[in-house]
Amino acid sequence: MLTRREFLQKAGNYTLGAYPAMIAMGMLPAAPAHPFRLEGDGNGKEVLILGAGLAGMAAAYELGKLGYQCTILEARERAGGRCWSIRKGSSNVETGGQVHTAAFDEGQYFNAGPSRIPHHHALTLHYCKELKVPIQVYNNVNENTYYFSEGKGPLSNKKVRVREVHNDMRGWMAELLAKGMDGGKIDAGMSKEDTLKVIEYLRAEGGLDIDKLYKASARRGYIDSPGPGDKEGKIGDPMTLVAMAESGLLDPDFYNVAEYTYELQGTLFQAVGGMDRIAAAFEQRVGGQIRRGAEVSAIHNVEKGVKVVYKDAEGEKSMAADLCICTIPLPVLSNIDHNFSSDASRAIDSIVYMSTGKIGLQFKRRFWEEDEGIYGGITHTNNQLTQIFYPSYDYLSGKGILIGYYNFNEKAVATGNLSYDEREQLALDKGSLIHPQYRQEFETSFSVSWHKTKYNLGGWALYSQEERQTLYKALLQPDGQVYFAGEHMTYLNAWMAGALESARSVVAALHSRVTGQRFSYPSLGS
Ligand code: ALA
Repeated sequence: MLTRREFLQKAGNYTLGAYPAMIAMGMLPAAPAHPFRLEGDGNGKEVLILGAGLAGMAAAYELGKLGYQCTILEARERAGGRCWSIRKGSSNVETGGQVHTAAFDEGQYFNAGPSRIPHHHALTLHYCKELKVPIQVYNNVNENTYYFSEGKGPLSNKKVRVREVHNDMRGWMAELLAKGMDGGKIDAGMSKEDTLKVIEYLRAEGGLDIDKLYKASARRGYIDSPGPGDKEGKIGDPMTLVAMAESGLLDPDFYNVAEYTYELQGTLFQAVGGMDRIAAAFEQRVGGQIRRGAEVSAIHNVEKGVKVVYKDAEGEKSMAADLCICTIPLPVLSNIDHNFSSDASRAIDSIVYMSTGKIGLQFKRRFWEEDEGIYGGITHTNNQLTQIFYPSYDYLSGKGILIGYYNFNEKAVATGNLSYDEREQLALDKGSLIHPQYRQEFETSFSVSWHKTKYNLGGWALYSQEERQTLYKALLQPDGQVYFAGEHMTYLNAWMAGALESARSVVAALHSRVTGQRFSYPSLGS
């Protein structure tokens, strides 16, 4: 066993510094996965943060560590912003005045906003660790869910398991390619020997027979499962490529939300007990600094600081501070009086947000598990529902909540234009085509239309490549004393990681301004 002194002498002989060497040799506890080491002190400077979503609370949390004095103004009575899990008593107000309160059973919930954390969102996972929020695996990909094409082609209104589509497609594609290469119709510019290797790979990849033909395999599942004695199991006939194409299974309706996109590749995680546990963990640290029910109506840069006007239950008030971090979603900010530069103002008024909505449907029993063997994952459909999400928690328990639709763009706009009752009817009518158990087992619903939700007015920011160079850049710099933060100030739109990375980024910028140091995030400490 080395003493500390001996160790330091020894480590000095290596090129690596003592600190990493000590960690490697187990002499120091490992640093947090995502360190944020800022030097210097904010010396009580006052920072006014607008919005108690993840970005606002994470900024307050980090600034608090550095000696700043933060106040957070939050328009709602609850903190968390879009990081919101709907439980019994959750309530929402939409533009147009529709108010809705959830009547789910105690203990039942669904995530109306973020529901999954990609494994490469290291900062989100870091905060879960630092704030002691337990996480569990989120099952995003499930080969046992369905593709359901309503009213289109030979497979119209048939429930097709994802594994059938995936493996039939793989089989047919591999057969076409193998035949093409074998017959010399596809010239990949390879030697004969290499061509044979590729063909052999295609045979294995597609599950082709010796003649390079796809004739279905156990990969697509059984129509009669294998069992004891002489129960060998029976494999069904493959769907033809023509049937799949004519039924729209190759259309963007199905592949646009595919699970193989970078963010949706396993492993994914979720917070145990609801994603709002992450917001709650920040709130536990900074909740005392939040003024709730405080609706901002004006933000003005003044000579040596910032002045914000807001209204709460007692009437109109104003607050002054040295600096401000504004996390208000841009479509909301666009309706607030300010004296920002014309470039910032144009960006705020022009950046478009995603229209999107979800409905949670509580059922008496988990028929998707009990009757259909579906444990988590997503069913895809070309109808207005777009997707049905099955919960990746509380498996085999009694009741459960499905996300009956999660849709985008014009489908979300059309759904959002319905009353709450009509949305429920739509989810039940369309969902019953896939799960006839719906009618028998349904209890109660709650829907959120994010683009119609007061204080959000959208799901997340959407940018064209050109807007990244113009509008986006106009907001990356502080406007006077005001810094803009939130998922919209990152390339991680629609993710909690965006809110959190953005919070650190503005904290670093603000702190470097106050202390006169030069550093930038994310290079800092990572
Ligand atoms: N991050 C959003 C989702 O997981 C888009 O659906």
